[in-house]
Amino acid sequence: MNTSASRLESVVREIAEEMRARPDRGEVATYIPELARVDPGAFGLVVIDADGTVAAGGDSDVPFSIQSISKVFTLTLALGMVGDRLWRRVGREPSGSPFNSIVQLEYERGIPRNPFINAGAIAVTDLILSRHKPREALGEILRFMQVLAQDSSIVIDEAVAASEQRTGFRNGALAHYMKSFGVIENPVEYVLGVYFHHCAIAMTCRQLATAGRFLAHAGRDPTTGHSVVPPERARRINAVMLTCGHYDGSGEFAYRVGLPGKSGVGGGILAVAPGKASIAVWSPGLDAAGNSHLGRIALEALTRRLGWSIF
Ligand code: DON
Repeated sequence: MNTSASRLESVVREIAEEMRARPDRGEVATYIPELARVDPGAFGLVVIDADGTVAAGGDSDVPFSIQSISKVFTLTLALGMVGDRLWRRVGREPSGSPFNSIVQLEYERGIPRNPFINAGAIAVTDLILSRHKPREALGEILRFMQVLAQDSSIVIDEAVAASEQRTGFRNGALAHYMKSFGVIENPVEYVLGVYFHHCAIAMTCRQLATAGRFLAHAGRDPTTGHSVVPPERARRINAVMLTCGHYDGSGEFAYRVGLPGKSGVGGGILAVAPGKASIAVWSPGLDAAGNSHLGRIALEALTRRLGWSIF
């Protein structure tokens, strides 16, 4: 069933209004001090369908810290560089543990369960560094985001990156621990520097939904015709997003929303309705698993009203 542009626009506006009015907003992340300054009342939602219709509601043009959503794009880039050899370094099973957990690494000899938990994303960043010096690696990641989002104004929020660099001791522990198993090859401080900075990229819902379009359309941006990855790779990235994109909240997200999605502690979620749409939502308050509380509720309302669950 195709959704008309006007129906899509009215559903998105309705949901944005409903979410703005809700008192339950979750808790803004405070472990990265700079993120604690964000207004918990913010809410943005953008859906871009296969025809390129953009339906926007709320704070759709306010930049926020994409944090772990960047891991989808570093995974895409690293797969482009090293291909399926990547999976020797990182698994693709749900962890059932929090995003910053260290416990499985000892049992599994330093191989992170998947590329979306922090340990896995740090290992992916290390792979990107095997081809580039830190500054070039970061430039490559940022340019990739700008090209996908068709917006060269996207920047890294240096205050957020510096804030995490000062306080990211747990990520330091994960990286050093993986290095002790030989899973990280480059100097830990280089790997973490690039990781903290790509997490600190700031984007709007509109930019993020644009950047995610290739995942919704078999690896190609349907408007520009630009092929980003082969169809099989897009399918596989979506599969990992569905099973691992919300950490130990991934089952709940699949159950309620029914779409591949990737969250970040900045309160953003990128969700993919295959063949239909790319969706970005932002509400800074998080649930206990570190995923956007109202973001998930908004996506559940959207997929229910439009019949967009993949199941
Ligand atoms: O490494 C961290 O803790 C953050 N830069 C990213 C974590 C994150 O976004 C988890 N997502 N919900």
